[in-house]
Order: sequence, then structure tokens, then C-alpha cells
Amino acid sequence: MKVLILMGSESDLKVMERCKAQLDEFGIPSEMTVASAHRSPERVLKLVKSAERKGAEVIICGAGMAAHLAGVVASHTILPVIGVPLSVAPLNGLDALLSTFQMPPGVPVATVSIGKAGAKNAAVLAARIIARSDKDLQRRLRAFRKKQAAEVEKQAKGIG
Ligand code: RP5
Repeated sequence: MKVLILMGSESDLKVMERCKAQLDEFGIPSEMTVASAHRSPERVLKLVKSAERKGAEVIICGAGMAAHLAGVVASHTILPVIGVPLSVAPLNGLDALLSTFQMPPGVPVATVSIGKAGAKNAAVLAARIIARSDKDLQRRLRAFRKKQAAEVEKQAKGIG
């Protein structure tokens, strides 16, 4: 397992599935489960320690509302932690964004966009981190960039 994906609630699954799907597309083995910084703090710690033992290189955390999951995970490990702020009414993700990214000095969380764009970007960022020591994955990331650029060309032709 290279990446552990945690989310605060089952209600986050629809968005966080995009993160797993992108990692799958890159061929990066990951495990995904629910653990809440507030509702199940002991489970969070257990999962972080077990991910370290299994050789995980990155931990991704998606949570909404007062989203402390990524910060708490970052306090328990020296692995890079990526936080995905999720949109939940009534504040629609601004609450989670501030809770996730505004970390005190010494405990970083790499915070991506709110919601589904962030879920995908968390996977791409994790892939870029892991690719530092994986030449095959570097090739897959370059192919991914080319495919995106080709898609834009196609859209431009469709308009012009
Ligand atoms: C957060 O509270 C979760 O990450 C979720 O986004 C939000 C609401 O959780 P539920 O009440 O839907 O379980 O901890």
C-alpha cells in the first residue's frame, strides 16, 4: 500500500471515491476507509501507525465542517499529509478549508481545492510525490499531462 485515504464520514465517500479512482488510474495501490478526528480519534491513530508499518508514502484526508482530520493525522506522522476540504452546508467548504490549511508552524498539511477537484488533485499530488523515486510513475504522469493538453486542443477545435 502506497497511499492511505481517510475520510471523516461515509457521507464523504461520493467525493473521495474520485481520489481513489485517480490513484487506481496511475496504478498506485491505496486503501480507503472512514475515521473521524472527533468521533473516533483512537481509530485515526491506529490507522496512521498501521499505514506507516505497511510502507505508505502519503496519507490523504478528506473531511468537511470543522475538518481537523488532516491536521491530527499530520501530528501523528512524518509522512506527507494532503488535506481535501469537503463541502457541507451551511458553510459549503469554507469552514473545512480554513480548518485544513491554516496549520500552526511545524505541522504542515498540503491543502488542495474544496470538493471533487481537490479529491482528484490530492491523488495527482500524491502521485507526484511518489514519482520522485519511481521512473515508471514519472512516465505515467507525463502521459497524464499530455492527455489533458490534448483534451484542451480538442475543445478549442470544437469551438473554433
Ligand atoms: C465531518 O463532518 C465529515 O468529514 C463530514 O464531511 C461531516 C458531516 O458528517 P456526517 O454528519 O455526514 O457523518 O466530520
